[in-house]
Amino acid sequence: MTQQDTALDEIWGSIWLDGTLVPAGKAVVSAFDRGLLYGDGLYETIRVYSGVPFMLGEHLRRLRQGAQVLRMPVPDEDFIRRAVDSVIRANALEEAYLRLTLTRGVDPDDWSKLEPCRPSLIVMARPLPSRDYGDGFALAVSPFRVDPASPLRGVKHTGIMPKIMARRLAADEGCQDALLLTPDGFVGEASAASVFWVRDGVLFTPSLDCGILDGLTRMLVLRVAPRGGIPAEEGRYPLERLLQADEVFLTSSTWELVPVKRVGESDFAAPRPGRVTRRLIELYRQEVRRLIEEDLS
Ligand SMILES: Cc1ncc(COP(=O)(O)O)c(C=O)c1O
Repeated sequence: MTQQDTALDEIWGSIWLDGTLVPAGKAVVSAFDRGLLYGDGLYETIRVYSGVPFMLGEHLRRLRQGAQVLRMPVPDEDFIRRAVDSVIRANALEEAYLRLTLTRGVDPDDWSKLEPCRPSLIVMARPLPSRDYGDGFALAVSPFRVDPASPLRGVKHTGIMPKIMARRLAADEGCQDALLLTPDGFVGEASAASVFWVRDGVLFTPSLDCGILDGLTRMLVLRVAPRGGIPAEEGRYPLERLLQADEVFLTSSTWELVPVKRVGESDFAAPRPGRVTRRLIELYRQEVRRLIEEDLS
């Protein structure tokens, strides 16, 4: 057992691979897996609350939609749910990060064909790393773009090198994340999160036709905002609109709502989170509790 295997076992415990649980350090896929060779796969990042995979049905719906675009077969839902539950139970997880990856599997022949292969399902989960967002993230405006014209827009595929590079270039500028615009300069999303801002009490977020991911946290924030009397608007907004905001925040399943303190050279006033963001965090947590209790009952 190598040092790396031990480290993997310590962090990830047992993971699901090819229909069974295996120790993380022993989990290997074929050198011919198309996920490895071509990024030919899909993934979902899921938050586990009190041992329950939050909005699993919605994550699987998004996975199936992506698979339709990529013409990739998906194992049946019960099988995936069993795999997810096995990993959560085997590792006795309560508050956790769970990643589900589906690759097209091994194709011995031609990279350019999309012949049906036997898809490979990998499920891994770990306790949620402790998080300290301080008084908010700084975002660099990225040279990478989201492309509303791409046939792969909104598909959560595993070929995310542009997003990794966007995050890395942002880190070089001392920023925690990157803001990606469309080719026309409209606000898109962060490297792995949706973006929102508040101006004069109104909540704004880019519409899905900007080519962004249909974020589940984004969807819930838009659902709870009216309960707090917060009007919300979706649209195509030039960067200047965001830079004039009173409050800015990012959303993702694992981060929930994270305040932003700076975008490019523009700072947003303290306190962070701001008044409206704080209210939305409360409403979001209430909704999470409600849905988890519904799931447990
Ligand atoms: C590009 C991108 N946008 C937004 C999100 C947030 O999506 P969700 O709220 O469904 O986690 C993610 C999550 O990974 C992402 O990769």
